[in-house]
Formats: sequence, C-alpha cells, structure tokens
Amino acid sequence: MRDEQARAILKRNDRGGYTIPTSGLYPYQWNWDSAFAAVGFAAFDIDRAWAEIETLFSGQWNNGMVPHILFHVPDDGYFPNHDVWQGTGPIPSSGISQPPVAATMARMVLDKDPEAGRARMAALYPRMVAWHRWFMDWRLDQGAVCVTHPWEAGRDNAPDWDAAMAAITPDGVGDYTRRDTSHVDSSMRPTKYDYDRYIWLVQRGARLGWDEAAMLQDTPFRVADPTMTFILLRATRDLIALGQMLSKDVGDLENWATELEAGAQTLWNTQLGCYDSRDVVGGSWSVSISNASFLCWYAGLDAPDMRTRLAEVLALTKFGVPSLSPDDARFDGKRYWRGPVWGMMNMMIGMGLTEMGLPQGDALKRSTADLIATHGFAEYFDPRDGSPAGGGTFTWTAAVWLAWASPNTQGA
Ligand code: DGY
Repeated sequence: MRDEQARAILKRNDRGGYTIPTSGLYPYQWNWDSAFAAVGFAAFDIDRAWAEIETLFSGQWNNGMVPHILFHVPDDGYFPNHDVWQGTGPIPSSGISQPPVAATMARMVLDKDPEAGRARMAALYPRMVAWHRWFMDWRLDQGAVCVTHPWEAGRDNAPDWDAAMAAITPDGVGDYTRRDTSHVDSSMRPTKYDYDRYIWLVQRGARLGWDEAAMLQDTPFRVADPTMTFILLRATRDLIALGQMLSKDVGDLENWATELEAGAQTLWNTQLGCYDSRDVVGGSWSVSISNASFLCWYAGLDAPDMRTRLAEVLALTKFGVPSLSPDDARFDGKRYWRGPVWGMMNMMIGMGLTEMGLPQGDALKRSTADLIATHGFAEYFDPRDGSPAGGGTFTWTAAVWLAWASPNTQGA
C-alpha cells in the first residue's frame, strides 16, 4: 500500500517535468529535492526520472551554478520570491546552490537502465562537471566546502550556523511577511531571529548581483560544513565513474576528489571526536553531532570514532539518525534541523554504511521503513516517537521509500 501511496505522491507533486517538494509550503523546484525525486520516479518511470534532472539543469547559470530554487511558475504563497532573490540565470531563481546530490542520483537512475539512459547522461555530464567546478572555484576553504547561506546546506536552522548567524546584525532588512508559518506550525520552523538573517543575506547577494568574487569580499557568512563536503566528494566520485563510462578525461575530477578528501579532514573536531562544521569567518567549531557528520561513509571515509558516535546516537532514537544528537542541550525534536529525523539523510547515511560493509546500513534502512510505514510521508519526524512534522505528502520521503526503504525495493 505504501508503494502505491508513494507513487501517487510523486505524481501529485509533478508539475510537468519537475516536482515540487509539497504543495503550499514549497511550490517550486528545489535542487536536492528534485534529485531525490528522480530516484523515486526511476522505480516506475525512467523517462520521467531523467526529465526531472534535465529540468533542474535547464536553470544552470553561466558560471556553472545550479540554483537551489527554480521559480518556474510564480506563487504568492511563498516568500522570498524572485523579486527578492533576483537570480541572474536563464530561469527565475534563487542565487545560491544546494547540496550536489544530482550526479549520485543520476548514476542511480542510469543503473536502472544503462542503455536507455546513456545519451541523456552524456548530455548532462558536462553540466554536472561545470557545477562541481563552480563549487571548487568558489566554495572551498582548505579543501572543505563552505556554505554562504544556511539555506545552501539545506539544513536551514542547524546549530552549525549559530555562531556565524549571531555575528550578523540584520540592519535594514525591512518588513516582510513570512509564508512558511501560514502552512506549518511555527514551532516546527526556524525562528524570526533566523529569518531576519536569512533575508538579510539574500538582500546582500542580490545587491551584489550574485557576483561570487564581490560576495567573497568581507563575507559575513562562510561555514565549512560536512553536508556539502561529503556530498560533493561522493558526487565527484560518481561523476568520475560516469565520465569513465563515457570515455571522458576525468583528470580534473580526480584532483578535486583528492582535494576534497583532504578538506574533509579539516572538519575533524578532535575534542568532539566527530566531523563538525567550522565557521571560517569567526574561527569556531559548531560542536554538534548532526546527521551531516554521519555522511562520512557516503563519501567513502571511515573513522573508528564515527562508528562509536553512531552507536551512541542510535541508542537514543528508534528511527535513525536525528539532525542533532538528543543529548545536545540545543536539541528540539520538532524544530526542523535541530532534532528531527529526515528520510533522505537516513538513506544517504545508510547507503554509505552498506557500501562500506557496515551492518548498521541495513538496520537504518529497516528503521526508516518502519518510520514511513507507521507515520507516513511527512517532511521530517520527531526522532523520539516518530510523529510527523513539517509538510505532509512529501516528495523526498516518497522517493526514499521507493528507491531504498520499501521492502519491495530490489538491490538498493
Ligand atoms: C524554505 O523555504 O524554508 C527553504 O528551506 C529555503 O530553501
């Protein structure tokens, strides 16, 4: 029954060539949501899976950046819209990017039917390389990948950004009306304090015409983060495999993977015994054991301490890896990225564990299946009791079910 419901959610959220995360709260095409949607579609409609990724890349900017939101059809129920962002690409868009899961998801789609997908992959390949090059050119600090806005990591209100956000005084941000809290209870969303700073950063980028070199001058917000670093490293490894399959020269990609691997080690917080975020401007560690910390295996990196941290966190929750360890004083089980469990994070962590031969991968898949089977297709869940939170009938939760968690899924 859940298989059928998951397919129905993807179809209902399909707006023709792209999928919205959920109606109301997120009425546009979001970058990483869309890449996850593609692997969901690949379970029953490969052609539609490729279209999802192709539409995402149709919004790519000249500098290689692929925006985090494409505003295909204006919607007054969302804020901030294109009039605030003023993205400069071929389609109205935001001005920042999002975790580059697309190459990894494209490879998963291709694996389903390599013959049928080869030409479509070949057309996407140079675009994906250009996007990865943009990260390497503009987002690196000592080889680790930085975010320039909390929304860029996708983990909007994670404690990872607290110190960097506190250093911002959102002077002149002006009046605005949030729309997210008219769709979802405000206890499950970021606070006004956070939102003022989100919008202030957007206004700064728009004022500078999203010129990366200009934005780098006196940058107020730059945090080196495990989400971006591990995901880009993993996606680069997948792009190398795809490039080899297409008989391309993958020399640059191999150099990037080496650089990123070294960069990942600069995120090792010795005192915490865990991968952590580093505020590049202020110089402090975030000191948080988050679900992004556990993406190390997905990036092909193992560490004995991380296995210990994982066992500790999993002992505190039934449904997989929470966005913040429940024994952290900042933990809030319902508030977005400060506690809840997210299906697609469980999937990436689980895939990585399984690929590295660690048994917790299967266990994580089973607990994610249990979570979705019992509590449905919510955006995220309270890790203490699995209660659904955020938006409902959510695309990426449906996709995670179809591509990975469902007992009927083969070979994932
Ligand atoms: C939102 O609208 O809350 C998104 O997370 C921004 O990308």
